[in-house]
Amino acid sequence: MADSEDIKENKNYFPDIPARHEGFYLKGAHQLDWGMRNRLARIFRPESGRTVMLAIDHGYFLGPTTGLERVDVTIMPLLEYADALMCTRGILRSTIPASFGNGVVMRSSGGPSTLKELSNEHIAVDIDDAIRMNVSAMAVQVYIGGEFETQSVHNMTQLVDMGLRYGIPTLGVTAVGKDLMRDARYLGLATRICAELGAQVVKTYYCAEGFETVTAACPVPIVMAGGKKLPELEALTMAYSAVSQGAAGVDMGRNIFQSDAPAAMIQAVGKVVHELMKPKQAYDCYLTLKNEQATARKRA
Ligand code: R5P
Repeated sequence: MADSEDIKENKNYFPDIPARHEGFYLKGAHQLDWGMRNRLARIFRPESGRTVMLAIDHGYFLGPTTGLERVDVTIMPLLEYADALMCTRGILRSTIPASFGNGVVMRSSGGPSTLKELSNEHIAVDIDDAIRMNVSAMAVQVYIGGEFETQSVHNMTQLVDMGLRYGIPTLGVTAVGKDLMRDARYLGLATRICAELGAQVVKTYYCAEGFETVTAACPVPIVMAGGKKLPELEALTMAYSAVSQGAAGVDMGRNIFQSDAPAAMIQAVGKVVHELMKPKQAYDCYLTLKNEQATARKRA
């Protein structure tokens, strides 16, 4: 307890210095509670306002996806380069060290496997467990135009309500089934619905034409989903185009962990996302790092 005698009396209230009331660096987040902003700050770097999120949640409907057969072997070396990790609670508890200090975006919907109708998802975690796992956000698939569209939107709004209760943001993931479009009109519809209904962050695919209209019309940050594996230069070019057109970073999986040199690739993606490095230069970085890592492996 503080002493009650010999108290220093010359207090200074700095009356000439107005109290600071800072906004927040993320779109649409300036009126959120402190806890929610703090969690968002674990995902999005304050210096750039963007994130390199590593998506490894594919197993929740695909099983042991190529590159994720042994998360402990293939993903662990990448963690130091990821601003945030998107994964299931099963992988988080079983495999990811609790010392991982960056953002964790926990897959919070699920149900059908790739053998069934994917849009028939339900909420797959209890909010108590999200709190227990100290996650930075909960991710939920939203199937606009899909067979179970309303159910998937309802999953998201329920998570938003629970997340608001405890300061945990919800990431609405606009799912694109095989029959759904990937043009700016569709992506604009899907992302805006997620934001209107409360998602604090939205994930969507890139489209070559009009992506800037998708990000402009979404009042919260959009992160770009990677999609199927592309040659590295193409993937870096897509990431560059997305962030140049207003995306607050990427949530990339296969284009990183299925790369010939995943650690080199995630670092090159980081250069693009945080430094807006041009794709060709980032690709050169990728090749240099890839060669250095191959040489180091030979020496070991
Ligand atoms: C799938 O729905 C999951 O949310 C993945 O996290 C997502 O597809 C991103 O991974 P990728 O970059 O491999 O498409």
